[in-house]
Amino acid sequence: MRAYDLIQKKRDGGTLTRQEIEWWVEGVARRTIPDEQVAAWAMAVFFRGMDARETADLTRAMAFSGGTVDLSDVPGIKVDKHSTGGVGDTTTLVLAPLVAAAGIPVAKLSGRGLGHTGGTLDKLESFPGFRVELGREAFTRQVREIGIAVAGQTADLVPADKRLYALRDVTATVDSIPLIAASIMSKKIAGGADAIVLDVKVGSGALMKTLDRALELARLMVDIGRQLDRRVVAVVTDMNQPLGRAVGNALEVREAILTLKGQGPAQLTELCLTLGGYMAWLGGKAPDPQAGRALVARHLQAGDGLAVLRRLVAAQGGDPRAVDDPDLLPQARYREVFTAPRPGYLVAMDARAVGTAAMVLGAGRTRKDDVIDLAAGLVMRKRLGERVEAGEPLVELHFNDPARLEAAREWLERAFTLAEEPAPVPPLIHAVVG
Ligand code: URA
Ligand code: CA
Repeated sequence: MRAYDLIQKKRDGGTLTRQEIEWWVEGVARRTIPDEQVAAWAMAVFFRGMDARETADLTRAMAFSGGTVDLSDVPGIKVDKHSTGGVGDTTTLVLAPLVAAAGIPVAKLSGRGLGHTGGTLDKLESFPGFRVELGREAFTRQVREIGIAVAGQTADLVPADKRLYALRDVTATVDSIPLIAASIMSKKIAGGADAIVLDVKVGSGALMKTLDRALELARLMVDIGRQLDRRVVAVVTDMNQPLGRAVGNALEVREAILTLKGQGPAQLTELCLTLGGYMAWLGGKAPDPQAGRALVARHLQAGDGLAVLRRLVAAQGGDPRAVDDPDLLPQARYREVFTAPRPGYLVAMDARAVGTAAMVLGAGRTRKDDVIDLAAGLVMRKRLGERVEAGEPLVELHFNDPARLEAAREWLERAFTLAEEPAPVPPLIHAVVG
């Protein structure tokens, strides 16, 4: 086989065979196909697409392009959860301990990544001393012993995706539904998941800006699961504003703790119960998603998720006292408010601009080696649909570096649309596929 021929075939709208896709992915992982050909192929896929069978073949080939996590000595159905990414997405920090409390083994491999805030790993490092590098043995042992571990992905996992994603990132080919679906699903499968609950975000702060595209991605990932014998449910959820109030690393940890105490923001709590319900169902702990939700809600009320979080933090070397006294988490030296320039109803938010404001304050990375300021970020004071008066705070800014304040304010100035008449607020949950 020749790389040139496969690029040409896809460029001309052909369908690649399973053999061709396997050959291609091996060449990507082993670096026998050079960057320019991988990039050209990604562009051909961007324009021509892939059908469901091709996408499943790509997912399988990528999932097994390197090492995989073997969770067979952890008893029970391993249910993983993945979010396609949003702004101020505190869900994992709440959901992982909560479903572990319901008896679902949580063996979570997370990333850091680029974005408005750090990834789950960065957030957990807000607990002084928390270690995210666990060896394979220690990782599975901890899941067996306390029901939960959250660690960094080892370097050998899904090398084909690592290389392809890096090339897509610089060639304007990230935004391809089959490539996104294969990228996400291959990592979940390599991570040892038996079943997967996907949180597909849609809106101004998400990769998918329209419901049609979000549904297309959701359906494709559910179909990949069917072809690869993994049960998958995709919940399409709103990302036209941050889910909770916090956008930042330690700020989101604080919010997660509050939520596990039953005092969290309504929308964040609601989404965690919904996703948790599907996880409990797929994990065999409940006869249907509604019963799963009730089970997870009982554990929330009993404070069991909070107890699991304490155990998780202690097991990975962090200071569990911070769970009971969040003032021990990193806190920024300075706080300011961003106020409404005039009265009106908050009818639209550019959640990406809000996220960028948090990143500018130091909460996220623009380059892989940027250092995150765990204390920096935003606390949202208003939600879509609310009425605000001139001079009322819309956002609280938390920062250590005053030199960054002006740029953050400029992003916030673009982020809010105030109008004289109220507008309908998008629902939290748009659809469930699976
Ligand atoms: N997240 C991923 O992991 N991969 C993509 O391609 C896009 C979002
Ligand atoms: Ca996330």
